[in-house]
Amino acid sequence: MEHPLYVIVFFSLLLGLTRCAGNMKTFPQDFEFGAATSSYQIEGAWNVDGKGWSMWDHLVRTTPEHIVDMTNGDTAAKSYFFYKRDVQMLKELGVKNYRFSISWPRILPYGRPDYVNPYGVAYYNALIDELLANGITPFVTIYHWELPQNLNEQGGWLNDEVVNWFGDYSRVLFQNFGDRVKHWMTINEPHVHCHLGYEIALIAPLISVPGVAYYECSRNILLAHARAYRIYEAEFKSTQRGEVGFVTCMEWGVAESNSTNDKDALENFQALTIGQHMNPIFSESGNFPQKLIDLVNSASIRQGLNESRLRPFTQEQIESIRGSADFLGLNHYTSRIIYRNESLNGTFPVPSIYDDTFYGDYPHPSWFFHGGYVYEYPRGFYDLLIHLKDNYNIPKIYITENGAPSLRGEGRLNDTHRVRYFREYLSAMIDAIDEGVNVRGHFAWSLMDNFEWTLGYTVRFGIYDVDMEDPERKRTPKKSALVYKEIARSRIIDYNYDADPYTPSAASGRNLSIFITLLLATLKVLL
Ligand code: NOJ
Repeated sequence: MEHPLYVIVFFSLLLGLTRCAGNMKTFPQDFEFGAATSSYQIEGAWNVDGKGWSMWDHLVRTTPEHIVDMTNGDTAAKSYFFYKRDVQMLKELGVKNYRFSISWPRILPYGRPDYVNPYGVAYYNALIDELLANGITPFVTIYHWELPQNLNEQGGWLNDEVVNWFGDYSRVLFQNFGDRVKHWMTINEPHVHCHLGYEIALIAPLISVPGVAYYECSRNILLAHARAYRIYEAEFKSTQRGEVGFVTCMEWGVAESNSTNDKDALENFQALTIGQHMNPIFSESGNFPQKLIDLVNSASIRQGLNESRLRPFTQEQIESIRGSADFLGLNHYTSRIIYRNESLNGTFPVPSIYDDTFYGDYPHPSWFFHGGYVYEYPRGFYDLLIHLKDNYNIPKIYITENGAPSLRGEGRLNDTHRVRYFREYLSAMIDAIDEGVNVRGHFAWSLMDNFEWTLGYTVRFGIYDVDMEDPERKRTPKKSALVYKEIARSRIIDYNYDADPYTPSAASGRNLSIFITLLLATLKVLL
């Protein structure tokens, strides 16, 4: 009578495990996990050790009302002082990679390389060395929106000279850090930077010349990116043997209906927000999508201009941009429903990028709202990855940002909504990998709570909480950090795994007890 009982226990346990396994998704063997931040959002020390002003330092001093809670990044998470704790967090998470950015004016206070700030160089040397000493690989963003104010006053991304400025700055970084940094990303999110910074004046440098400045900014960013890539290729690659990638943020669009109008609007949306930056680098044409060229050209003619507001590239520029990335850094957060905006007349300025592309967008009401602009639709992530595979020649992809915000105070450590977001998005990503999309790694945005640009500290993206009232800026893992850690360790997404952010050891205790029970049951059956 004894045996059947153990047999029953054993098989029920096995059955339970198999059921769990049915829920589990596995990452490829060489898939890498990481976390990401950017300099202005975490470093603080805005005027310490000879750092120059960036256009954000200028914005928060001259027009503080642009930040919803009137805060700024002056001190932020104080990573300039507590970077060793940041590295410890990465170790705690058990991840392999850290994506961070270098502050241009901390290295070149006036933007140009005639004066290199030794303290700025020393800070990033210390951070890089600390990472390497702890077995973490640095992925460095050269530019995450901190244009030196001096260069901003000379026209910034609207001045064609910026291509030289950016190239020279990149060379300084390759010279100083390239012996240890092997993964570079040039410029973070051209569409977002140029749209919010130059079309609608929402972020620095608060410029709004609709339908003109956005395209100039995007064009110069592509050229500046290519310049840095070619400098690395010609002067550093043979000795440093690293790689240089390009980071862009893409949302997925879902047509509101099957109507020709909505499908057409979706194509316009994709040409503007995806193709504009992807086609020049990752397609044979080396140029903007024909759809976008035609749209802006016909609108410009309609408006009585002699030439398109989307300035064409020369053949030489096309050659330089085409193929100028060893990998794509994809930042992805959310999706939108796209429709043809019939009621456009009078709604948007003419010219503007909206008038050029005449699509409307909104989040589907059934998508869970996390805060900021993030609505949860993991299927969109899968569809976007498949779209990229089907339309571009991309050597490999890293998901350089992905995550969800919490509204301040909501589920501060017990962030179950973020846990679900990560599981669902990672799961959609695995499905895409299974379909042949070459995704090599994922970086959670963000390693810690930080300054979310014009939203200040009202939304928090960190998987580590940062106590912004504490002079020591105490960092505490949220539930999402513990779950991300378990995913990185086990290399599976286990929906049954739970973690209590207040007693982190509870979860591993639970695993151990399941293991011992199983072992005992097995032994008893066998003996
Ligand atoms: C993209 C940007 O790169 C980053 O700076 C920002 O904080 C996150 N998205 C979240 O909005």
